[in-house]
Amino acid sequence: MVTIQRVQLSEAEALLAFSKKTFYEFFDHLNDPANMEAYSSVAFTPKRMVAELSNPNSEFYFAIADNEVAGYLKLNFNDAQTEFQDANAMEVERIYLSGEHHGKRIGKQLMDFALDIAQSKQLEYVWLGVWENNHKAMGFYERYGFEVFSSHPFLLGDDLQTDLLMKKPL
Ligand SMILES: CC(C)(COP(=O)(O)OP(=O)(O)OC[C@H]1O[C@@H](n2cnc3c(N)ncnc32)[C@H](O)[C@@H]1OP(=O)(O)O)[C@@H](O)C(=O)NCCC(=O)NCCS
Repeated sequence: MVTIQRVQLSEAEALLAFSKKTFYEFFDHLNDPANMEAYSSVAFTPKRMVAELSNPNSEFYFAIADNEVAGYLKLNFNDAQTEFQDANAMEVERIYLSGEHHGKRIGKQLMDFALDIAQSKQLEYVWLGVWENNHKAMGFYERYGFEVFSSHPFLLGDDLQTDLLMKKPL
């Protein structure tokens, strides 16, 4: 049984620990350790986590399975979106499950939840960025009708990578 619940400011520490853990779980073996450290020392700090949680245009959700955090979701609206800042759009900035929870349809529950929110706000489209080498996540997004429409550079330490931008009209 999985429940999805909004992450509270008081849970910043737990969210930070889970975000960092899952980031390393998936990307550490594919990248240079120094670049992982350079990126995460800026992206995953207590100060930044509190600021992101306090942004009224961002929403974080935990997926809880058996009383433990199995995954999380970050949604951005309006000027919290990392690009475009279109008022008629929502960005799925992060959707991550811990390794042992892959393939159990928890990702589906988080994505359905996100799409329901966008629909309830009568938005026109949902978009996201995904590393071009993350074929697993791209397959998952395609399953939900997302299509590549653009790309942008993403700097991981000193490694200039390419994120593909995918969009799903509602
Ligand atoms: C991507 C991720 C969220 C998907 O979650 P998941 O729980 O493994 O996926 P689910 O079991 O809920 O699958 C839901 C549906 O998507 C399909 N799917 C999942 N991965 C797929 C893939 N690579 N290709 C095609 N379909 C896929 C499933 O078959 C299922 O389809 P169905 O409803 O027809 O049976 C998860 O694997 C994850 O956390 N990955 C690592 C972190 C990451 O890369 N995040 C994205 C960063 S941009």
